[in-house]
Amino acid sequence: MSFDKRKISALFDRWAADPSLQPDRGDVPFIAGLAALDALAPCPLDHILDLGSGVGRLSLACARSGAQVLGVDLSPVSIRKARERAESEGLDNAEFRTGSFADGDFIGCLPDDSFDKVLLVYSLHHLPDNGKKRTLSAIAKMVKRPARIVISDLMFFSDSMVIDCKTADDACYDSGDTDFPTFAADMIEWLRELGATIRIERLHPMVGLIVADFA
Ligand SMILES: C[S@@+](CC[C@H](N)C(=O)[O-])C[C@H]1O[C@@H](n2cnc3c(N)ncnc32)[C@H](O)[C@@H]1O
Repeated sequence: MSFDKRKISALFDRWAADPSLQPDRGDVPFIAGLAALDALAPCPLDHILDLGSGVGRLSLACARSGAQVLGVDLSPVSIRKARERAESEGLDNAEFRTGSFADGDFIGCLPDDSFDKVLLVYSLHHLPDNGKKRTLSAIAKMVKRPARIVISDLMFFSDSMVIDCKTADDACYDSGDTDFPTFAADMIEWLRELGATIRIERLHPMVGLIVADFA
């Protein structure tokens, strides 16, 4: 089980190029995005980092609220689409960059204290546990205080859970090829160790919203 940057980038290049693959209203990933936006509550003074921003669905929603947004994604096609969408809406407060939040120095190279809200929607689960832990620790070190990290993603809630095909399909879980969900309890423990106060909500049998606040 390992994170394959080229595989993910190629997968999401294809995804970004085909509008029929984008989540529809009512789909679990769509609902996960709405729940994350609600928890993030973007407003004009915010500096928001959207990690795994895809074609900009949530970054642009934040930018429409007046926040300054940086979207980061591995997939060059996704970044191109997101930039085109920002331009067509005249949103000059949304910037998009190609990069991997799993690369040790990517988050480390962002100026400290420049973001107070971080969004990870359906992107963190592409990393195995140790990669997630490293990424969350780098984010917690970089953000300004107070800060909020919102994760809305695939996760496991119980080790006795039986995942049937419909549950997996609804959640868009590929059963292990590129998706590596972690136990919600483990992510909560790592975030608490980093100093966060946590709220968690179960959105679906294998999708959760974690809101981590750093005072
Ligand atoms: C399912 S899409 C979600 C996109 C967006 N967050 C949304 O909800 O519309 C997952 C995105 O995460 C990106 N991604 C996965 N791992 C990444 C990494 N290590 N660094 C940057 N982007 C990554 C993929 O390229 C893809 O665009």
